[in-house]
Amino acid sequence: MPHFLDLHTTDRAALRGILDRAAAMKAARAGRPRGAGDDDQPLAGRIVALIFEKPSTRTRVSFDVGIRQMGGQTMVLSGSELQLGHGETIADTARVLSRYVDAIMLRTFDEAVLAEMAEHAGVPVVNGLTNQSHPCQIMADVMTFEEHRGAIAGRKVVWSGDGNNVCASWLHAAAQFGFDLTFTGPSALDPPDGPVGFARAAGRRVVIERDPLAAVAGADLVVTDTWVSMHDSQSARERRHNLLRPYQVNERLMAAARPGALFMHCLPAHRGEEVTNAVMDGPASVVWDEAENRLHAQKAVLRWCLGL
Ligand code: CP
Ligand code: NVA
Repeated sequence: MPHFLDLHTTDRAALRGILDRAAAMKAARAGRPRGAGDDDQPLAGRIVALIFEKPSTRTRVSFDVGIRQMGGQTMVLSGSELQLGHGETIADTARVLSRYVDAIMLRTFDEAVLAEMAEHAGVPVVNGLTNQSHPCQIMADVMTFEEHRGAIAGRKVVWSGDGNNVCASWLHAAAQFGFDLTFTGPSALDPPDGPVGFARAAGRRVVIERDPLAAVAGADLVVTDTWVSMHDSQSARERRHNLLRPYQVNERLMAAARPGALFMHCLPAHRGEEVTNAVMDGPASVVWDEAENRLHAQKAVLRWCLGL
């Protein structure tokens, strides 16, 4: 079953094929109203369940719109409203949903929940973010980088801030798409060993550099994310802010990167915290293209999953 669970567990050639198709599908729609269907309707007669156990703006809307553009239908479900949120097992939920829908997108907490859903589903399961990863986001991000700057292979990406779920997927992508990644952040919030080891085992240079100005030297892309993720306890907020404040992406930091370096953020951004307004709204920022490309990248992910 071609699930799309993580970048490190998906074949490298398949990932590249998904991005090629996303670019072609995006080009084919240029200038059309968002609500216009694609010329081919590959998801005609298909229904996709979109399950959210955490809040979402981009993931929710981009999957919903993309599936409709491809002629499919969606059901947006919140975990708390399902029996899933009241004790029915993930495995049983997977078995039942597979009798109704053609694919399942799940945003959940621990990645073990996603794995259990995929193990017991008779239809493809797509990772819409877990505490540990966010692969759909980084597919859109790699697509965005390549639209603006050409091949990402051999480039230097710098992650500044919390070594979180989005950072982990960037590390997986470093291995799969062949770029180097420097992490700059406090040691207490280093990325986990698994994704770091995966990138290094693939021969990629992964550097941990505590000095943010030194880290961004030669960077083609600077990326950050919120200092407090949805799975982090609010009681850790002040400590995290104190640890992460030196890693804010501001004009001074961007000026130390390679000329023409891009800035990315998966959003939602906390302006004035991990990134300043000047960077978010400045010439290096491609954050709105990233958000748009969620739509195109995920349409291609779903087609790959469904073999359409
Ligand atoms: N970047 C992202 O996944 O945004 P949402 O949480 O709004 O879906
Ligand atoms: N790291 C963030 C990403 C949100 C899209 C979170 O998990 O809350």
